[in-house]
Amino acid sequence: MAAKRLVTGIRPTGDIHLGNYFAAIKPTVALQEEHECFIFVADLHALNQVSEPEKLTKAILEITKAYLAAGLNPDKVHLFQQSALPHPELAWMIGAQVGIGVLERAHAFKDSVANGSDINFGLFSYPVLMAADILMYQADVVPVGKDQQQHVEFARDWAERFNNLYGQTFTLPQAIHPAGIETIPGIDGRKMSKRYDNVIGLFDSAEVLEKKIMRITTDSKRPEEPKDTNDTIAQLFSLVASEESANSFKERYAAGGMGYKEAKELLLGAVVEFLRPIQERKASLDQNDDEVRAILARGAEAARAVASQTIAATREHLGLVV
Ligand code: TRP
Repeated sequence: MAAKRLVTGIRPTGDIHLGNYFAAIKPTVALQEEHECFIFVADLHALNQVSEPEKLTKAILEITKAYLAAGLNPDKVHLFQQSALPHPELAWMIGAQVGIGVLERAHAFKDSVANGSDINFGLFSYPVLMAADILMYQADVVPVGKDQQQHVEFARDWAERFNNLYGQTFTLPQAIHPAGIETIPGIDGRKMSKRYDNVIGLFDSAEVLEKKIMRITTDSKRPEEPKDTNDTIAQLFSLVASEESANSFKERYAAGGMGYKEAKELLLGAVVEFLRPIQERKASLDQNDDEVRAILARGAEAARAVASQTIAATREHLGLVV
């Protein structure tokens, strides 16, 4: 049986951190083995938030390098920029008849209304563009977090409706939830998030890592007291260390006799080791932006071969071809 088609979009965020790594990057990289993957930097989706052009350009390159450094293999997956392909054209053809009521029920839209944020066309039409992202490549599966499930369901509904009205055009996609760890604690114990300024950066230097790890919030247990093996330090340690050293860490931690200072030092060592190969690959990519651009261009070319078929069929089925 042919490998299933997988499509996913990655947001071009700066300041990539361990939370992003364990929740999104690592699980996506794992999927490349068993699927035919179309993975794109969702740069058009970034336009509904104001950004400086240079920042956006940098963020696109940074996220691309992060995935490559984490092991995404551009010979195996099609990795490209969304803006290089005609996603908006397909979005228009799919979305022209989407009812405003559905879009008003989208979680992201409702959240923005509730927060009193400005609503723009980009935000309001986000689900339509995302449906086009997915349907363009005839995706079988779309790996997403629970927060994106609704978007994939919209895409599926609209594909089905379109197929019924105009004839078979789109594969019906299904959301999958790859085993990633959704919630990584930040240094203050809350969910690791740029918003809380509590992140451990994937590309932080050893000095910065030390500062941040030494600042991890703890209670005031003395060294000889038993520690909670589910606290921030222990959780982060188990993520970055081998199973064996995580187990012996936890044993000592629970038994008492390990102070928080020593625990943080051990964690720092484990984080530095864990990040070393990723940071080394990133550093070599940083020396070679042209190669990164070439990877994106090759990915776009491969994606175009599929996209142009979908666009042609959609135009034809809609009666646009005279
Ligand atoms: N909306 C997704 C997110 O916020 C990113 C994304 C854009 C996406 N287009 C997609 C994910 C298509 C899967 C498929 O993370």
